Amino acid sequence: MGIIEPYNSSSPAQGRIAVTGKDADRFSFKVPTLRNVELTYPYFHDGEAETLREAVAVMGRLQLGWNYSAEELNDMVAFLKTLTGERPAIALPLLPASMDRTHRPEPFK
Ligand code: HEM
Repeated sequence: MGIIEPYNSSSPAQGRIAVTGKDADRFSFKVPTLRNVELTYPYFHDGEAETLREAVAVMGRLQLGWNYSAEELNDMVAFLKTLTGERPAIALPLLPASMDRTHRPEPFK
């Protein structure tokens, strides 16, 4: 994230570098599928983009060095909305019951 212009937000997250410690992984984020993206507000790893239009405008500027016109943004948002369909039902796995001596999670540093 931030190939042409750096990504500025109030979130301190810097992506995969937090796990690997490698500078090449700075601002590397897992990108969710764009299928049903119309239904999955808010956008980006920190949820800073509140609308699809804003997310597309940010993508254009930061990733491609391009300022899209209002009409181009309308067209791209209209295209992204064609990716809306039935939402898959996701069954979460039932984990073994936890006990007092169950290992506690260790959050990323
Ligand atoms: C006009 C072209 C593009 C459109 C319409 C577009 C659209 C989007 C949208 C809607 C998201 C938000 C996904 C979500 O949070 O659910 C996203 C995220 C992302 N896109 Fe793009 N994108 C474009 C170009 C690019 C390019 C050229 C790159 C890389 C070279 C890129 C890399 C990413 C990354 C890394 C994220 C995740 C960012 C984060 O979570 O902080 N995108 N894109």
